[in-house]
Order: sequence, then structure tokens, then C-alpha cells
Amino acid sequence: MNPTYHDYRPRDYSKVRGLKGISDPQIEQHLKLYEGYVNNLNKLLARRGEMCRAGQIGTPEFAELTRRAGFEWNGMRLHEHYFENMTPGGGGDPPSDSPLRQAIEASFGSFDAWKADFLGVGAMRGVGWAILYLDLRDQRLLNTWITLHEDGHLAGTRPILVMDVWEHAFTVDHKPTERSKYLEAFFHNVRWDACDDRLAGIPEGRPGAAAGGGAVRPPPTV
Ligand SMILES: [Fe+2]
Repeated sequence: MNPTYHDYRPRDYSKVRGLKGISDPQIEQHLKLYEGYVNNLNKLLARRGEMCRAGQIGTPEFAELTRRAGFEWNGMRLHEHYFENMTPGGGGDPPSDSPLRQAIEASFGSFDAWKADFLGVGAMRGVGWAILYLDLRDQRLLNTWITLHEDGHLAGTRPILVMDVWEHAFTVDHKPTERSKYLEAFFHNVRWDACDDRLAGIPEGRPGAAAGGGAVRPPPTV
């Protein structure tokens, strides 16, 4: 962590409204939780910076703040990925010429096989995240479960599709035992062109970012 950075700001997700199967009150509550991660990260980093300047490195408090920063940072950034890969009018299956679709088919054999695997990860017991990653070394896609926010990320990968499966993501709309309804609703709102941009390495949220890009290497033949 850089002790000079404590100026992160919540991003504007006012356009993430009117989703199919995920209510606006659900999104409103979720955005408040997201803003909490941003605010807590700033407080934590500011305090950590004070300790650096005061020569308090090496203390138990410094160590715990440093560990905690991974939780707050990932809580911030994973939620940004999540909100940015949903949009009203999204969903359906990505078109056959979508780079993501082609990469999924190369890595999993078919879109349906990937989706079944991803949903299986999302339905696992416990709270966490289901994430589709691009392995930057081998240019292959992987589905992974993330416990909490900071545990389990795969080194050398880039998140492509992020699905929050903490109960706070759906319990305004559904009972805790009804996660499957939320998983179904999530797929009605996926913004596939955002996933294409991530696959191509186009910076997140860049105004006018073109879907598809083309910077990524062709997926390997399997
Ligand atoms: Fe969340």
C-alpha cells in the first residue's frame, strides 16, 4: 500500500437502475455498502500514513492495518467490477463474434458449459464472489470462488466477470435460501461488452471504451 494515497472516491453508478430481477432498493442498499468500503479504505490508509511518518512501522497496529487494507481495497474494487458488469437491458448470451464468447468456448468447450460451471461456483455455500478470470500467462479463462474479498485470488490473472454472492447482494429481494433466484437475475443483466473490454485490457470505465478491443491474443485452441 502506498502511504500517500487516501483519496479514493465512490464511483457514480446511478445508471445501474431498472435491472431485471434486481430491484432499485436492493441496488441502493448495496451501493451504500460499497461506499463504506471506499470510506474505510481512505481512513485506514490515512492512519497508516500517519504511522509511517511517526516511525511506528513494526507495530502490531501497523501490521493489522496493512492486512486489513487488502479487505477494504478488494471490497471497493470488486464491487466496482460488479456494478460495471451489469446494465439494464443487458443479459442474454454474448454474440458469436464476441471475443469473450470465443474465449469462453476455447477454454470451456461451450458457453453453456462455462455458464453451468460459473453458476455452480456462485451457488457454493458461504459468502463470497464468483469470478471469471483471464490467466494472463496462458490466455485461458478460469472460474474461481473468492472467500471474503481478499482470499483466494489467482496470481497473474485479470477479473473478467464478477458476481457478488454475499447475502447482502440479494436479501432485499429474496430470502437467504433463495440465492438461485438472484443468480438467475444476475444473468439477465450482464453487460457483456464490459467483459469484452476487460478481456482486451481496455481500462475500466473509460468513456467511449469500444467493446471488443482486439488487444488480447487469440485464445488457444482446445
Ligand atoms: Fe456486495
